Amino acid sequence: MDGQKAQLAIHDPPYNLVAFGTRSVADFIAWCEKWIETTNASLADDASLYVWLGADQNEGFQPLPDFMLMMRRFKDFASRSFITMRNQRGYGTQKNWMAVRQECLSYVKGNPDFTVQYTDIPKILRGYYKDINGKKTENMERSKSKNIRPGNVWVDVQQVFYRMEQNVNGCYAQKPLKCIERLIIASSKEGDAVIDFFAHSGTTLIAAERLKRQCFICDTDPIYCEIMIRRLERLRAFGKTGWQNGNAFEQELHEVEETEHPVLDLWQWKN
Ligand SMILES: C[S@@+](CC[C@H](N)C(=O)[O-])C[C@H]1O[C@@H](n2cnc3c(N)ncnc32)[C@H](O)[C@@H]1O
Repeated sequence: MDGQKAQLAIHDPPYNLVAFGTRSVADFIAWCEKWIETTNASLADDASLYVWLGADQNEGFQPLPDFMLMMRRFKDFASRSFITMRNQRGYGTQKNWMAVRQECLSYVKGNPDFTVQYTDIPKILRGYYKDINGKKTENMERSKSKNIRPGNVWVDVQQVFYRMEQNVNGCYAQKPLKCIERLIIASSKEGDAVIDFFAHSGTTLIAAERLKRQCFICDTDPIYCEIMIRRLERLRAFGKTGWQNGNAFEQELHEVEETEHPVLDLWQWKN
C-alpha cells in the first residue's frame, strides 16, 4: 500500500472448521490477533472494520466468542454492530434447528461516516406514533423511504449458486456481491481504499471496482489469486461479474493437454 491508509477493511477468514484444518482455538485466535494488528496499521484514523466469522454449534460456538473477547484488547476498535445474514441453503438434522446464519462483526476506529441504505422490501408496519411539533405522527409519515432498512439481520441477500452470473466455480466460500457492496456503500466513499486479506474469489475486489473504490487484497492460495485477477479482467472487458456455470480456466481447458500450465494443473488437481 506504500504508506497509504484504507478507510475500510472487510475480512472473511477461514472459520477454523475441520474441513480447512482446525487449529486449537487459542492458536486460531493468536493468528487472528496478528492480522488484526496488520489491519489496524493499514487503516486510517477514521475507518470501519467488518469481520465475517462462524460459530461452530458443535464446538462451543468457537471461534466467534473467543474472537469477540480478543477484539476487546484492541482499544482502537469500538464494537458497532453484530450483523446476521440468512442463507437460503442450510444444514442440520431433524433434531436441531436448521443452521442458516452467517455472522459479521462490525467495528469502528475513530469516527467514520456511515451511509444509510434501504432494501427492496416495502414497509408494511404502521402504528408507531410520536408527537412532532404538537402533531401526532405515524411512522410512515416520518420515514425517509417506503422501504425498510436492512438493519443488522439481512434476509434479502441471495446466496451465490451456479445459475447466477457472479458465480465463480471452484470457489467454495464466495460471498454474494450484494452483501459486500452493502458494506462498501455504508462505510466508504468513491475513491476510498478498501482492504481484504482473505480475498478468495475476489468479491471485495469486484465490488470495489464497481463502486469506484481502490482495493488492496491478498490470499495465500495462488489459484485464487489467479482466479480473482481473471475475474477483474473479465469485468473490465465484458462487464460480467463471474462465469455462471462456466469457469475461470475455460480457455486452457479447451486448448488442452499438450501445453503445460502449472496454474491449471493445480486447479484441476484441487477440483
Ligand atoms: C472464506 S474465504 C473468503 C471468501 C471471500 N470473501 C469471497 O467472497 O470470495 C477465505 C480465504 O482465505 C484464504 N486464506 C487462508 N489463510 C490465509 C492467510 N493466512 N492469509 C491470506 N489468505 C488466507 C483462503 O485461501 C481462502 O481463499
